[in-house]
Amino acid sequence: MLEDIDRILLREPDIQARIEELAFQIARDYHAKDLTIVALLNGSVFFLADLLRRIALPVHFTCLRVSSYEGDQSTGEVRFAQEATDIAINAAGRHLLILDDILDTGCTLQAVRARFSDQPGALSLKTCVLLKKSGTRTCPVEADYWGFEIENAFVVGYGLDYRDRYRNLPFIGILKQSAISS
Ligand code: IMP
Ligand code: MG
Repeated sequence: MLEDIDRILLREPDIQARIEELAFQIARDYHAKDLTIVALLNGSVFFLADLLRRIALPVHFTCLRVSSYEGDQSTGEVRFAQEATDIAINAAGRHLLILDDILDTGCTLQAVRARFSDQPGALSLKTCVLLKKSGTRTCPVEADYWGFEIENAFVVGYGLDYRDRYRNLPFIGILKQSAISS
């Protein structure tokens, strides 16, 4: 697996240190508020686990399966799996924070935001991503919280995949062109 990585972009200790800062910021902003985190699967699983354990608040969380990528390209179409059609949370009276691994075209976050905006009674709706690419937005959306801004390259590891592989790398790296099949 390591031989397929061109370059490491973010090492495990740097990722963890930044997550610690994000958790502190979120705990401060949502102090005494009823916070529900909605994590987008599968990419945000490791981010979710590491972030949540550092937020010193009694948070709720739920997961939503969403996909828009085929291989290393965005299809531009955001697909919600079955569970999204009957979102298993009652948003009334809650503050929602949508969590994703990476903000690229922005179409995923925009579609999920739109889905939750329809929910009656949510007190607030914000977004948090570990990574955001610069200069790649086709849907005009930005994250309220973000870990790192990165160059426009296809990255894998720490939850991010290429054809459902490499998610278990502990760091975030750029995949070699030779590992990307056309
Ligand atoms: P967006 O809708 O284009 O903003 O992309 C969001 C989704 O695309 C993320 O949740 C990822 O699953 C996937 N994605 C975008 N860029 C990358 C990447 O560099 N590596 C792996 N997945 C990516
Ligand atoms: Mg994903």
